[in-house]
Amino acid sequence: MAQRETWSTRTGFILAAVGSAVGLGNIWRFPFAVGDGGGAAFLIVYLAFIALIGFPAILAEFVVGRKTGRNPVGALMEYGGEAWKYVGGVFVFIGIVLLSYYSVIAGWFIRYFLAGFQGSYADHLASYNGEAIEMFFDMTFGMSSVVLHTVFMAATIGIVALGIRQGIELAVKLMVPALIVLLVGLAVWAFTLDGAGAGYAYYLSPDAGTIAENWATLLPAAAGQAFFTLSLGMGVMITYASYLGEDRNLTKDAATIIGFDTGIAFLAGLVVFPVFFSGGIEPGEGGPITIFVSMTEAFANIPGGRVLGLVFFGTVVIGALSSAISLLEVVTAYLIDEKGVDRWKAAGGIGLLIYVIGLPTTYDIIFIELYDGFIDAVLLVFGALMVMILVGWVAPKVAVAELEKGIGDLDGLAQAWIWAIRVPIIIVLVISLYLGIVDYMDILASFSEWMNANL
Ligand code: TRP
Repeated sequence: MAQRETWSTRTGFILAAVGSAVGLGNIWRFPFAVGDGGGAAFLIVYLAFIALIGFPAILAEFVVGRKTGRNPVGALMEYGGEAWKYVGGVFVFIGIVLLSYYSVIAGWFIRYFLAGFQGSYADHLASYNGEAIEMFFDMTFGMSSVVLHTVFMAATIGIVALGIRQGIELAVKLMVPALIVLLVGLAVWAFTLDGAGAGYAYYLSPDAGTIAENWATLLPAAAGQAFFTLSLGMGVMITYASYLGEDRNLTKDAATIIGFDTGIAFLAGLVVFPVFFSGGIEPGEGGPITIFVSMTEAFANIPGGRVLGLVFFGTVVIGALSSAISLLEVVTAYLIDEKGVDRWKAAGGIGLLIYVIGLPTTYDIIFIELYDGFIDAVLLVFGALMVMILVGWVAPKVAVAELEKGIGDLDGLAQAWIWAIRVPIIIVLVISLYLGIVDYMDILASFSEWMNANL
């Protein structure tokens, strides 16, 4: 087998991991998860989960990846024993399905980005009699969705096929800084809107009552969002850490990556909530389409909306692309390492399969809910749980030794890490998984209604 590639610099690795973490999860999913969860109450639980669960969990994936230097299937097998390869197989499956609809949603953002070139958002909206929801369904589903899904997958495949240094590292070095600059600019602009005060209040002042009343939905939603946004639960961070050539301080890298990801999600909230409140939009309604509907109304009504809109939707596409490449890289790395396929063939072949699996989601939004509900609330939580069991119970000593490489003796801290994983984190994950499955039953029920009505 050819020599395995490594990142050329520490910054390259960090940017790639940040690029993976920052994506639709931060800008598309986070605002509607906050809205579903009742605003600031969700934000608090989410931030707590990022710190208490996200941080130990990302370290666990890093340790497994760097220790084994392999893709998730090989890594879990080497780390935990033969039977763990099936868990690795589930990870590869998650990557395939997740990317399949992720690409379609990224295509919606491309569509809205292109709309800015075709005319002002006000004109677009007027041609749908001011109905932003109608505009959304007309513009995003059907043929244009298929075409843009094709374009997005082709770009993802191209970058991954080029490899770690030539493709991924180079791409994220351009994309991550661009994304941050654009979002900061948008947040400053949002600050000047009339609804900014109300938006900040909704987003930033929690009341304990809401948390106590809604914990059964808040808990799995916040856990799911925390894993999704940090790209945990399916081996992205295992794979990226497997390309680390040297031993360095993984806790520092984890803190940096989490800091960026959380900062950017927070920033996205500072952009969208002022906009929602200026436009008189209820953040809790609309789920996956919220952001499109509300941002179009906003961009239709403010001076310079056409350019701002273009910038906003374009920014999200950049973020989505750097995440998509991480998903495809997991599956590609598996085919290269375990099956000896060459990089181009692996990325292209599996990319095509992913493309086909995504096609139903271009047809009706119910498929997005069907795919996303299963991946986010069920499989990613399951995947994260498996990594926690592996690191916390199956081979904790190896994990501690690996973590201490490049840091030195951690004593009590390493034990605290292992114990955090062993009990509280595993309990939260088990509860979230259970509640996630219960919620998913509702989605399945509405899907079968949809089938009966449409087929
Ligand atoms: N974290 C990315 C986002 O926020 C999405 C993503 C990329 C992801 N790779 C992942 C989610 C792996 C879960 C697992 O958009």
